[in-house]
Amino acid sequence: MVQNKTILRALAGEKLDTPPIWMMRQAGRYLPEYKATRAQAGDFLSLCYNPELAAEVTLQPIRRYGFDAAILFADILLLPQALGADLWFVSGEGPRLSTITTADDVAKLRPTDAIHETLNPVYETMQRLSKELPSETTLIGFAGAPWTVATYMIAGRGTPDQGPAHALKSENRPVFEAILQRLTEGTIAYLSEQIAAGAECVKLFDSWAGSLQDDDFTRYSIKPMQQITAALKEKHPGIPVIAFPRGAGTKYTGVHEATGADCVAIDDGVDAAWAATHVQNDGCVQGNLKSSHMVTGGAALVDETRRICDAFSGGPHIFNLGHGITPDADPDNVQLMIDTVRGK
Ligand code: CP3
Repeated sequence: MVQNKTILRALAGEKLDTPPIWMMRQAGRYLPEYKATRAQAGDFLSLCYNPELAAEVTLQPIRRYGFDAAILFADILLLPQALGADLWFVSGEGPRLSTITTADDVAKLRPTDAIHETLNPVYETMQRLSKELPSETTLIGFAGAPWTVATYMIAGRGTPDQGPAHALKSENRPVFEAILQRLTEGTIAYLSEQIAAGAECVKLFDSWAGSLQDDDFTRYSIKPMQQITAALKEKHPGIPVIAFPRGAGTKYTGVHEATGADCVAIDDGVDAAWAATHVQNDGCVQGNLKSSHMVTGGAALVDETRRICDAFSGGPHIFNLGHGITPDADPDNVQLMIDTVRGK
């Protein structure tokens, strides 16, 4: 049977005439229908843990735009919460967590097997989506990569420079590495259940990989992603993995091989023509369009979308933004991007 899911074809290394397309944060506050469902759920975390409404917001951008993939609606910080950290969101500011900085804090985390108690509603969302999605749409699961999740657990919030995590890494490396180890094990268990519930591909978001220098990048971004990828592929042969070491710059070269991922997602900090020869030569790439084009639109959006499609036309490519779409984006610009990619 011919695979009708274009995302899975690109992930398998096929060069397609029209790249398949989806968008990071495609279910989000730029959509009026998302805001309405979010208001119905109450706060953001209640929405994440409500399978009916989480499935609904996941489906909204599929109905509106016909994207080639749907990404589970959840958050990378649900895993620390399942491991026992307190988590809440401060409106207009972002996430807050109880901090984990000592050997005692690490010892108090729940065992890996206990995470599913908290995360079961997420798996139920996945099961619903797996039944409700159109047959040509690929269902993507995800988790944060250990380094990125650790930066939030150690600081208790988002930080511009990941200072507290870097400080713990140099002041108490055993505790820092123990946190990463617990997150690596937890992520394998979490993503395994997402796959069992219907995810056809998983993505690892290492949003703060760019602040790791030299050997630290290899040890704390690449290695955990490699361990997770290997464990998932052993348990679920053939499952495609997308690695997103955001901000890696020239260190994007070799990430396919070093992590074992089928696709490498690139941010908007590298040039598409450079990435075509230095990253796409090793396999499928995804991303690169600046999210700000979804706010500003116009000829610049069309030109840049075409430039990226042309640069990656020689190999497997999934069209996406370099980072998540922002709440101030115009839904019509998303349609313009899709029409441009699909040549309409
Ligand atoms: O891509 C998707 O649509 C899938 C769902 C998804 C969300 N967050 C939903 C969300 C994914 C993959 C994430 C990943 C995530 N979450 C990351 C890594 C990717 C990245 O963007 O760098 C990080 C760092 C987080 C942690 C987090 N969650 C932050 C910093 C925020 C922003 C807080 C704010 O108020 O803007 C969130 C909240 C969040 N996660 C929203 C969504 C749709 C907005 C919540 C709302 O409705 O208020």
